[in-house]
Amino acid sequence: MQNDIVVEDVRKSYGKVQALKGVSLQAEAGKILGLLGPNGAGKTTLIRILTTLLKPDSGRATIAGIDVAKHPMRIRSLIGLAGQYPAVDEMLTGRENLVMVGQLYHFSRKASKERAQELLEQFSLTDAADRTVKTYSGGMRRRLDLAASIVARPAVLFLDEPTTGLDPRTRNDLWEFIRQLVDDGTTLLLTTQQLEEADNLADWITVIDHGEVIAAGTSETLKSQLGQDVLELQISNRSYIPQVQTLLESIGRETPHVDTATGRFSVVVPHGTQSLLEAVRVLDQQSIAIADIALRRPTLDEVFLSITSASEN
Ligand SMILES: Nc1ncnc2c1ncn2[C@@H]1O[C@H](COP(=O)(O)OP(=O)(O)OP(=O)(O)O)[C@@H](O)[C@H]1O
Ligand SMILES: [Mg+2]
Repeated sequence: MQNDIVVEDVRKSYGKVQALKGVSLQAEAGKILGLLGPNGAGKTTLIRILTTLLKPDSGRATIAGIDVAKHPMRIRSLIGLAGQYPAVDEMLTGRENLVMVGQLYHFSRKASKERAQELLEQFSLTDAADRTVKTYSGGMRRRLDLAASIVARPAVLFLDEPTTGLDPRTRNDLWEFIRQLVDDGTTLLLTTQQLEEADNLADWITVIDHGEVIAAGTSETLKSQLGQDVLELQISNRSYIPQVQTLLESIGRETPHVDTATGRFSVVVPHGTQSLLEAVRVLDQQSIAIADIALRRPTLDEVFLSITSASEN
């Protein structure tokens, strides 16, 4: 209950646009809640409400039992925020940015410098510490922004799409930093558009779309609820397309999609690796050469399609 986040039936409209249509969710203290949703789902709006930058039209949100709309100053002393777009100052160095944030929190000059050095080390930014931020890569800016959000050691941290636009390797590094942060007991609410990110980091995932919660659970429960793996397969000789179509139909859970120009198939399969092996075997039996084959997780789109079609039934 300490440092947990509770959101109850929160609504927010911008003029005619209903950005949040009654959202309820909870983040347990010391855990990572992943708020997963596509563009325009309402993720940033909810973060802005929880970080006191925006007032909800109705409903209630509390952090550590404190109402965010009624006691914004108390909330601000508890939380840290790294927004969707890095807010660091381009003209200052990495170190100067961090020292400045420390001073905004009324740390002494000495304490601000010490904290800055500590964070530069923690986020592997010591080499670039005394260069202006405008020379930083996207990944370095994100790391610096993350470091800036925890200068005052907040008990509750909000990260709005912390890895959007980063290459897979930089993203993986950032995930490591984020995991380290919560190891010392920070409560984290993180928004993302990537199923994989929520999957990797979050203890609990809430999926929102069009301002509404459409699913919630652990990544395991959601995945089994949301759909199976997708088999992708490409054949070298396109004249086999009709034959492969029939074979995949018997292995998959639905009609395979095929791109006739490239000979590339994709189909949702029920048994993961086992289904992949079965596909390899039956194609081999018919002497059909496979140019490429892989299993992948459903994309967010496929997941949403599966949730929305499930709720229509
Ligand atoms: N200041 C604003 N004025 C008017 N409409 C807004 C404003 N901010 C957001 N919206 C609208 O509210 C809805 C939710 O937007 P929000 O930014 O919360 O989504 P999001 O999930 O963060 O999306 P993204 O993944 O693109 O960042 C969208 O339809 C958006 O166009
Ligand atoms: Mg957003």
